[in-house]
Amino acid sequence: MLAPMRRIDQIEPFRVMQLLERAKLLEAEGRKIIHMEIGEPDFPTPAIVIDAAHRHLDGGDNFYTPSTGSPVLQQAISCWYKKEYDVDVDAQRILITPGTSGAFSLIYAALLDAGESVLLSDPGYPCQRNFIRLNGAEPINIPVGPDTRYHLSAELIRRHWQAHSRAAVVINPSNPTGTLIDDQAMATLAETCRELGGYLISDEIYHGLTYGRQARCALEFDDNAIVVNGFSKRWAMTGWRIGWMIVPETLIDACRRVMQNIFIAAPTLSQHAAIAALRADDAVESMRLAYNERRHYLLNALPELGFDIVIEPQGAFYIYANVAKITPDARAFCWELLEQAGVAITPGEDFGVFKAAEHVRFSYATGLDDIRTGVQRIGDFLR
Ligand SMILES: Cc1ncc(COP(=O)(O)O)c(C=O)c1O
Repeated sequence: MLAPMRRIDQIEPFRVMQLLERAKLLEAEGRKIIHMEIGEPDFPTPAIVIDAAHRHLDGGDNFYTPSTGSPVLQQAISCWYKKEYDVDVDAQRILITPGTSGAFSLIYAALLDAGESVLLSDPGYPCQRNFIRLNGAEPINIPVGPDTRYHLSAELIRRHWQAHSRAAVVINPSNPTGTLIDDQAMATLAETCRELGGYLISDEIYHGLTYGRQARCALEFDDNAIVVNGFSKRWAMTGWRIGWMIVPETLIDACRRVMQNIFIAAPTLSQHAAIAALRADDAVESMRLAYNERRHYLLNALPELGFDIVIEPQGAFYIYANVAKITPDARAFCWELLEQAGVAITPGEDFGVFKAAEHVRFSYATGLDDIRTGVQRIGDFLR
């Protein structure tokens, strides 16, 4: 029997999927489960996007686009950057990808040689580490806490940077903590990566879903930054598998070659839908307001139950809570909560190892009525 490559041993499963599978099984047995584990918008894709997709299908163009994407979408995104952040981005630097995940597999394949490394925050979005390992490179997971709003800082980057490091990644606002990076911190981060001769990679997939202040684009601080974004969250388009990446001119050719070989191109239908999404400001704003209402509710309710929220999250749809006052073992707590109370939340171990047993993540990408029921059930469970 042929075995898979040895590197696969280093690729961790997405543990929350096991919890989700169990939740689905309980639902099949007739139980009502409250889902606060999954980071997927509960809203349908905006109608203007669906209409555009229908029109496109009727037009019959279902052929490949160029590998770097439909020039119309590239141009539309370039104009959107001017409007949204007042930055000028040449449309050629915008590469259209199958989801933000596609952008990450592309950039790491284009950027990393075996043995090189990338700096990441722990806790952080788990797939990053695995994308890096798949390329034979090494993720350097750096513990972060409330003192840096759970983000890498310039000082941390300097301390952990190695001769073979190529980039540092920030997720702003963060998954799992929902916290935003301060503008000044972002400026020094960008400057530090430049000085060290590496790239700042900024995952901006939760931009637009912020409450209080807008997230700043890394390109506002460094024209050489690599920006990754997508339509899944802000525009509620997870299943369309469409995203983009902005790279410095020097990387375009390498990315194009990887793209041609791995994906050929992002789905044509989704690219056309995405052009319409960029005009869906009203729908995006009403989703944002709904998320904010849920966020307010949980920020009040959770501390009363003993969950400690050290830094108020101002973005994404997550609350990262310390459970040390409730349990020494967040994983066991999440499983018991699911089995006994029918509420699914994500244990900290999905996002790294640093203080993982002390933390859980709540997702409020689920309706307020369900969230209220969930809180009620958690209260009963804890009593
Ligand atoms: C921080 C972060 N980056 C990227 C992704 C992947 O998103 P996409 O659906 O665009 O592949 C996710 C999905 O949860 C995420 O949380």
